Amino acid sequence: MKIAFVASEVVPFAKTGGLADVAGSLPKEIKEFGHDIKVFMPKYFSVDEKRFGLEYISWIGSIPIRVSGRSLDVHFHKGYLPNSRVEIYFIDYPRFFHRHTIYTNDIDEDERFILFSKAVIELIQKLKWKPDIVHLNDWQTGLIPLLIKDNYSWDKIFNKTATVFTIHNIGYQGSFPKETLYKAEINPRFFESPGQVEHEGKLNFLKAGISFTDIITTVSETYARELLLPEYSFGMHHVLNYRSEDFYGILNGIDYNIWNPETDKHIPHNYSIKDLSGKLENKKELLKHFGLAFNGNIPVIAVISRLAVQKGFDILLSSMEYLMSLNFQLVLLGSGEYEYESAFNALANKYSHKFGIYVGYNNDLSHLIEAGADMFLMPSHYEPCGLNQIYSLKYGTVPIVRKTGGLADTVKDWDEMSALGKDTGNGYSFTDYNGYALTNAVERSIRDFHNKPVWKKIQTNGMNEDFSWKRSAEKYINLYKKASRK
Ligand code: ADP
Ligand code: GLC
Repeated sequence: MKIAFVASEVVPFAKTGGLADVAGSLPKEIKEFGHDIKVFMPKYFSVDEKRFGLEYISWIGSIPIRVSGRSLDVHFHKGYLPNSRVEIYFIDYPRFFHRHTIYTNDIDEDERFILFSKAVIELIQKLKWKPDIVHLNDWQTGLIPLLIKDNYSWDKIFNKTATVFTIHNIGYQGSFPKETLYKAEINPRFFESPGQVEHEGKLNFLKAGISFTDIITTVSETYARELLLPEYSFGMHHVLNYRSEDFYGILNGIDYNIWNPETDKHIPHNYSIKDLSGKLENKKELLKHFGLAFNGNIPVIAVISRLAVQKGFDILLSSMEYLMSLNFQLVLLGSGEYEYESAFNALANKYSHKFGIYVGYNNDLSHLIEAGADMFLMPSHYEPCGLNQIYSLKYGTVPIVRKTGGLADTVKDWDEMSALGKDTGNGYSFTDYNGYALTNAVERSIRDFHNKPVWKKIQTNGMNEDFSWKRSAEKYINLYKKASRK
């Protein structure tokens, strides 16, 4: 099959979160199965041509792309996903993509991704490459199924093309005033009832994706079920229930070439399930990095996260004073909403002997934290999949999570499994969204940390789990086939 995989962020070229990890690894796995897959993303300021050996596609030169009635000259570059033969194409329009951040609140945010969507389609036309599947990800690519089915339906190159649309996070929908319809040249009849692209009076890119794609997926089975409920859907449960026969949950895999304590190049001491002594050395390095004292009997709990409402920081903040009275050390790496950054900064000042913080984005440090910490905390309000808890399992860093979305599908609570007579737990989880449930799970983990054989068992259970991409890639390929048959 020929598959175009379209995403607004891809590791190692640009990343704000897990979407980039997925877009940088799933296509490689699909290629392994013998399919012809090409990736498409915007060429942001951060995409360094020299470092990644990108080539300007001179035989194409520029293609005029129409946005808001103007014709904008877009250029293209080509490279490869590292350690693979997967081609990646970059849509180059500096006026839109050379900004301080990947996503913006600028008034032309709609135009940026309209341009991206149309440019991907027109590049595919220029390449004379007839895709069986166009696989879209999140709202930034949500208009593409409709554009292919309507605006570009005249082109025979797409007459056998089916689309798959993956929702990584329903909290971000790309919602713009009605005028955006005209900027994208979308037929206004799609805006009128029954509102295939309209939500609360606005043009909604995510809803357009859900309405017009052949198959919809999201990144865990539990999240797929949750999204049918008003509590989790941010208003999209009607359209998702309407399309529920074409809606699937497939758990993300992770790239064990990047996230593996045996081979990780970002950590000072590699280690394996057979010998965890390197982990203790990493813990010493980690604490040194944060200026905290090492004591083998005190567990280190870590958080690495976008500081966003989704991630459960309100219940964490509400329990911080109590948590700080317990005997553990906390390290936090994150950036995002100002109110969280400043609240955590203030607490780290107050409890500077036991709480280390780094506000910002730091890839190297995220690996050291995974390797050096004893537990990893993710109290998410909702979590479509979550990758850090899966990295943590591999690193013998025991996850403490709220039981939602992908967290529920990957973390098995030690006490819950024990109550069933099984010693297969690999972490701790709690259901109620409040500080009490959170602190209870943290206290249970600290209790077991001091019981060395039990702790070793929990760590080993996690390290033995296999969340590699192979199984999930097979599921996507089956869905591609199903979509093609439709
Ligand atoms: P989300 O995509 O919702 O942010 P995920 O758990 O799927 O959540 O993925 C988050 C990814 O971003 C992980 O790879 C994590 O290590 C990384 N990450 C998040 N915040 C930071 C940060 N401040 N510094 C480095 N990496 C980060
Ligand atoms: C989103 C979700 C996260 C998921 C990631 C990759 O950003 O918030 O849970 O792991 O996408 O699918």
